Amino acid sequence: MENDAKEARQGQHRVFPWGMLKVFLLLGLGLSAAGVLMARHGHEVAAATLFRPWLGVSPTAAAAEGLEHSMTDEELLWRASFAPGVRRYPFRRVPKVAFMFLTRGPLPLAPLWERFFRGNKGRYSIYVHALPSYRANFTSESVFYRRQIPSKVAEWGQMTMCDAERRLLANALLDISNEWFVLVSESCIPIFDFNTTYQYFLNSSQSFVMAIDDPGPYGRGRYDWNMTPEVDVTQWRKGSQWFEVNREVGIEIVKDTVYYPKFKEFCRPSCYSDEHYIQTMLSIETPQSLANRSVTWVDWSRIAAHPARFGRVDITEEFLREVREGQTCLYNEKNSTLCFLFARKFAPSALEPLLELAPTVLGFG
Ligand SMILES: *[C@@H]1O[C@H](CO)[C@@H](O)[C@H](O)[C@H]1NC(C)=O
Ligand SMILES: *[C@@H]1O[C@H](CO)[C@@H](O)[C@H](O)[C@H]1NC(C)=O
Ligand SMILES: *[C@@H]1O[C@H](CO)[C@@H](O)[C@H](O)[C@H]1NC(C)=O
Ligand SMILES: *[C@@H]1O[C@H](CO)[C@@H](O)[C@H](O)[C@H]1NC(C)=O
Ligand SMILES: *[C@@H]1O[C@H](CO)[C@@H](O)[C@H](O)[C@H]1NC(C)=O
Repeated sequence: MENDAKEARQGQHRVFPWGMLKVFLLLGLGLSAAGVLMARHGHEVAAATLFRPWLGVSPTAAAAEGLEHSMTDEELLWRASFAPGVRRYPFRRVPKVAFMFLTRGPLPLAPLWERFFRGNKGRYSIYVHALPSYRANFTSESVFYRRQIPSKVAEWGQMTMCDAERRLLANALLDISNEWFVLVSESCIPIFDFNTTYQYFLNSSQSFVMAIDDPGPYGRGRYDWNMTPEVDVTQWRKGSQWFEVNREVGIEIVKDTVYYPKFKEFCRPSCYSDEHYIQTMLSIETPQSLANRSVTWVDWSRIAAHPARFGRVDITEEFLREVREGQTCLYNEKNSTLCFLFARKFAPSALEPLLELAPTVLGFG
């Protein structure tokens, strides 16, 4: 950790305009002073601490801060909704992919992910949302070491699941170098090497959110007329929870105060908000930025309510090749067979054969 910080600090000497930094430091002092004044007058102490990450305009400072903070969800979402008005960054910015792990606890497939990330430092960041009581046990060499964000209980099908997704996004947005945001679970695996994955997002003109208009009972059937006028039944969308969004679309999600209350009140089981809220809201607010499909492969053919789960005996070269290349889709308005970058659901027993096949079939490890 120490070495990283030093390395990064030296990097900063080369690329960071010091005049700018002074301005930011002065601004920071100003804000702290304002914070003290406010505190003295019995006001929020929060103002200064909410803005502190601004000083982390250099990725280094942000990293040194760690992921701990004491912001409430309301403060966090507000803070994360800021976007620069000047589109050109006045410093060297290597855009990163933020991998957001939504899990109850352990990450049994972590060794596979470790290999996926190896050698790509500086182009990704990791965030883990787990049960608040869960304490991960990674060593300091692990990419997952101390990457757990302040979390709350998330229940399947409830709005608390969307809260967890927004909490992950908001924490990841605080790092200004994160440009793409991928939601994954403990049963997800990467199925291409890091460079392919990175370039797929970099080259894409759209975000990968699955959003379809399903006229059936599990689609429009879950719509509640109380959602008008914010959401009309023709605007109602359904799709997989596992999304990839760019920074602009990510901010749309954290800043929403219009649709959120409607879904919280009127989309309850058997309406599952994680399959409708973000999908519907983005389809209304920013339809042209969506590919309307997910980059996370899943097999719905075996069981109805929950997708199939693959274990040791299922992992063969043929199976993995089929998952990687078995379909066609639109990518930047052209037909492509590269449709999926991740796949689920994989049981812990799948780890060993996956590690074995990764170098030859998945292209990493
Ligand atoms: C944490 O790691 C230690 C040493 O590797 C091990 O003994 C312990 O059981 C682990 N705890 C958990 C909760 O996994
Ligand atoms: C991945 O891309 C980086 C940056 O462009 C490059 O330095 C590296 O050699 C590439 N790795 C592989 C395995 O192609
Ligand atoms: C992304 O674009 C670059 C440059 O045009 C190209 O070399 C690369 O193959 C593309 N990668 C993907 C995954 O589309
Ligand atoms: C995705 O769906 C929206 C309507 O919800 C549409 O406006 C948009 O063009 C679609 N995107 C693609 C790539 O088809
Ligand atoms: C994509 O392939 C389908 C057939 O599978 C074809 O009808 C369509 O015209 C193709 N689209 C493009 C943009 O090439």
